[in-house]
Amino acid sequence: PGWEWGWYWETGRLADWTDRQTDRQPLTPLSPRPRHNDLPWQLLKRFNNRLGLPESNLTQLDGTHTNIPKLNAGHVGGQFWSVYVPCETQNKDAVKRTLEQIDVVHRMCQLYPETFACVVDSAGIEEAFRNKKVASLIGVEGGHSIDSSLGVLRTFYQLGVRYMTLTHSCNTPWADNWLVDTAEESPVHHGLSSFGKTVVEEMNRLGMIVDLAHVSVDTMRMALNISKAPVVFSHSSAYGLCPHRRNVPDGVLRMVADKEGLVMVNFYNDYVTCSDKANLTDVADHLDYVKRVAGSQFVGFGGDYDGVTRLPTGLEDVSTYPALVAELLRRGWTEQEVRAALADNLLRVFRKVEEVSGGTAPLEEPIALEELSGECRTSYGYSDTSGAGPAPLLPAALVLALPLLSTLLS
Ligand SMILES: *[C@@H]1O[C@H](CO)[C@@H](O)[C@H](O)[C@H]1NC(C)=O
Ligand SMILES: *[C@@H]1O[C@H](CO)[C@@H](O)[C@H](O)[C@H]1NC(C)=O
Ligand SMILES: [Zn+2]
Repeated sequence: PGWEWGWYWETGRLADWTDRQTDRQPLTPLSPRPRHNDLPWQLLKRFNNRLGLPESNLTQLDGTHTNIPKLNAGHVGGQFWSVYVPCETQNKDAVKRTLEQIDVVHRMCQLYPETFACVVDSAGIEEAFRNKKVASLIGVEGGHSIDSSLGVLRTFYQLGVRYMTLTHSCNTPWADNWLVDTAEESPVHHGLSSFGKTVVEEMNRLGMIVDLAHVSVDTMRMALNISKAPVVFSHSSAYGLCPHRRNVPDGVLRMVADKEGLVMVNFYNDYVTCSDKANLTDVADHLDYVKRVAGSQFVGFGGDYDGVTRLPTGLEDVSTYPALVAELLRRGWTEQEVRAALADNLLRVFRKVEEVSGGTAPLEEPIALEELSGECRTSYGYSDTSGAGPAPLLPAALVLALPLLSTLLS
């Protein structure tokens, strides 16, 4: 959660660093790269989103995987900040809490303009990189955050949200999550419901990236099948190396390649080695694996810093990215392949998502009222004949009764 979604971009300084670490030819400056990072979640848990406290100062924030000096040391050039709120908020205050996490990202950019530049498109990412800022984008981590509302989805887009993970670790009223592939939850929709397909369609129309981390395999396949734009896995590793259900099976890796999408490898020990211990070599193995099965244009870095409790030896915080880059170079990745994994693959996906967007009017069909639950919910709109809820019974009954009435009266 929290700082979970981010992508970073290495700057030219990486060249000097890599030079010292490997005996290969020096790299020319690399372009920026965004990854998944959960810092906003840490800011909520630790400080209730108060950024003005002495202890929440990001230049010296302690006990997190991410702070400004660590971002600088890791040559991080871009970041998708996750505005994660837990599944526990579903049918309660999910929308309010997500809005507050969006607000805390906006305030981060305002408070530290020398470090962060909040941007909303692929051109903005490149401009932030040229200005030596951490390009900062926003991702919603879990469809529960929109409370089954296309209006909320569109409003999030207006506020700068540029990807949404269709589920976190709970089913929504319109999509199944990965726990249905374990014994822990029962499948409800076997992928996406009809409204779930509408959500994907509206994301395509808006130009919001569809993220399939955390969803069930049926949801993966269905979303890959219907999305008009490429999709991403923002922080998932390879099932072929560690058979954890949060990871991506080989067949789906190949579908992602066909769709020209992106799988950004998660560093969480449990997804890397299926145990609580892992090291940098193990993460590089996942990157190699995705590259082999899907291709070098479809692999990226998924971090999950500040969203997880255990990280591999050698990749303890965001300052360690260059060590992983050096390892890939040692393994024979070309400079072009490294740049692709760090930034170019994401930029390609984002540009395509932007290109596919637009074209039609906003989708208006609401979710059926009976597909919603939650005790504090009102149902305005659904009792009106213009709504798409259950057919209004009273007017229909009156229509039937009228001929009868006139018979009786005559
Ligand atoms: C993908 O779409 C095709 C055509 O619409 C359909 O026949 C197929 O069953 C779909 N597959 C999945 C996994 O949804
Ligand atoms: C990581 O651990 C493996 C054993 O599981 C070992 O072979 C490898 O050398 C380790 N890598 C590093 C960088 O320490
Ligand atoms: Zn996550």
